[in-house]
Amino acid sequence: MFTDTLKEKTMENHQQLEKLLVGRMKQIRIKQQYVDLLQLFYTYFEGLEQQIKPFINEFNFPDYSKRRKADLLETDINSLGATTNALAASEDLPGINNEFDAYGALYVIEGSTLGGKIISAMMAKHLNLADGKGVSFFTGYGDDTENMWQEFKQTLNRLAGENQDERVIEAANQTFSKFKLWVEKIG
Ligand code: HEM
Repeated sequence: MFTDTLKEKTMENHQQLEKLLVGRMKQIRIKQQYVDLLQLFYTYFEGLEQQIKPFINEFNFPDYSKRRKADLLETDINSLGATTNALAASEDLPGINNEFDAYGALYVIEGSTLGGKIISAMMAKHLNLADGKGVSFFTGYGDDTENMWQEFKQTLNRLAGENQDERVIEAANQTFSKFKLWVEKIG
């Protein structure tokens, strides 16, 4: 399956990003530090979503409107009493020039719902956040997260034609590595 190859070929970048983020999250003790983490995600993910939007539609991803969006990060930031920072500029984001680049980026965005479950549980515990306040983005699709992930992978496997596979993999790797650079730059 294409998504197995994609996972394998992006694993190193995922691990590096995960290590960096877990290191930061372990130090979070006060709400402002968590707001800073949310800003990191908001400024990158919202910028990324705007880049992929022209290439994602009801024909390639019929359930895209049901999928969680970066505006939940804004909700989370606001619910903790802050306002959003300026978005990452295009040079800090991966270059998205066709639908295959967009698929690679969307793979990273959707996959973050899996790690998000760990992040939301850890933050809720560290910070005593009441009633899911401030963790709506990282909560992903709740109990439906695994189902949504399986459906996403099925769609991606249908869409990624063999000769475009490399392009999707390259875009996914760039999306991971540029996010890591962004965390290092402003984090
Ligand atoms: C604290 C940070 C993170 C942790 C602990 C974490 C952990 C995980 C875990 C446990 C999985 C499931 C692996 C599996 O079921 O096979 C996963 C998958 C994934 N994560 Fe993360 N993650 C983190 C951050 C992120 C972020 C920030 C992104 C995106 C920007 C991301 C993208 C992905 C992707 C794309 C997958 C799917 C891999 C596949 O193809 O199966 N993760 N992550």
